[in-house]
Amino acid sequence: MDTVARLHQLGDNLAVGSGGGAEVAIEEEIALSARFVFSVAFGDMREGSGDHSRRGGTLGLGKGVDSHGNLLQRCHWPCKFCAAKTGQAVKKILIIGIGAGDPDYITAQGIKALNQVDVFFLMDKGRIKGKLRDVREEICRRHIVPGRPHRFVEAPSPPRDLKPADYRASVDELNEAKQAVFAAMIADEMKDGETAGILVWGDPMLYDSTIRNIDALIATGRQAIDYEVIPGITAVQALAARHRIPLNRIAEPVLLTTGRRLAEGFPDGITSAVVLLDGEDTFERFADPQLHGEMEIYWGAYLGTPDEILISGRLKDVASEIHRRRAEARQRNGWIMDTYLIRKVNDD
Ligand SMILES: C[S@@+](CC[C@H](N)C(=O)[O-])C[C@H]1O[C@@H](n2cnc3c(N)ncnc32)[C@H](O)[C@@H]1O
Repeated sequence: MDTVARLHQLGDNLAVGSGGGAEVAIEEEIALSARFVFSVAFGDMREGSGDHSRRGGTLGLGKGVDSHGNLLQRCHWPCKFCAAKTGQAVKKILIIGIGAGDPDYITAQGIKALNQVDVFFLMDKGRIKGKLRDVREEICRRHIVPGRPHRFVEAPSPPRDLKPADYRASVDELNEAKQAVFAAMIADEMKDGETAGILVWGDPMLYDSTIRNIDALIATGRQAIDYEVIPGITAVQALAARHRIPLNRIAEPVLLTTGRRLAEGFPDGITSAVVLLDGEDTFERFADPQLHGEMEIYWGAYLGTPDEILISGRLKDVASEIHRRRAEARQRNGWIMDTYLIRKVNDD
């Protein structure tokens, strides 16, 4: 049973957590709102040290040590309760999904979150920076109550290796660099007790590393950070809405993937895929019905924006048109964001 599950079993005021042999008594209300990681666990916990302790356990920002002085636990997410008790203010981060293009895609929950933010952290890249920034500013202009003070802090996104020998390693490297940028912004640009907003394109759960990066920062234990995720409308939802289609056929699965992975083919049992992050027109590989059977595609670029382009049909009929329109639009705007649903035609 994991630590948190065990903590939840408790009654009255006290909880008992265990990790690798360490038994720690802690106050239940703290246990419920904090994440604990038993970094090392040796024998029984004998004493606690830190901001506050009780019955041998220490919580929040503190450390627990066993009788040999070994570190037993550390709270990776100092909770508000701990902060209140210790007088230490937590920096709060709202990771807000702003929708994938149309400023009206922001949800009512997103608008409420915008109005709690003291400082917005922006980290955009290259050519699309201006456009994405415009949408973010427009969203703030439309939805933040006049007079509500807020500020923007911008940092350049670390450069990315566009032709990496090892794709996964290059993403990890990029994320580490982004974590360093976030760490600096949080340390230098916000005061204790303030709330920062990170406006994530679409929804933060979809092909976006913001949550991973903030989690990694918290795991370092260097700053007292709490965060929430507010969902947004993804490019996938925008695509389906604009084409007026359900994403899946009745009771069938849909694979969510990238152009790079689609190039390896459809996995067994999968006949529908939504493809993001495809810089190579990978759909063209499936256009020949002799090789792949009859396929159809629903393609959308710049969804939810004035530049939106929608094309759909049998892949063999529309693949070259999509290729041409995509190249033209990319040339004209200097960047493109497109997404598509590609699936085997079901003639039943
Ligand atoms: C890094 S992913 C981020 C996805 C985003 N988090 C979401 O929820 O939509 C970027 C990819 O999303 C897709 N995308 C995002 N916005 C789009 C839009 N407005 N129109 C078409 N595709 C879009 C493109 O495939 C783009 O390469």
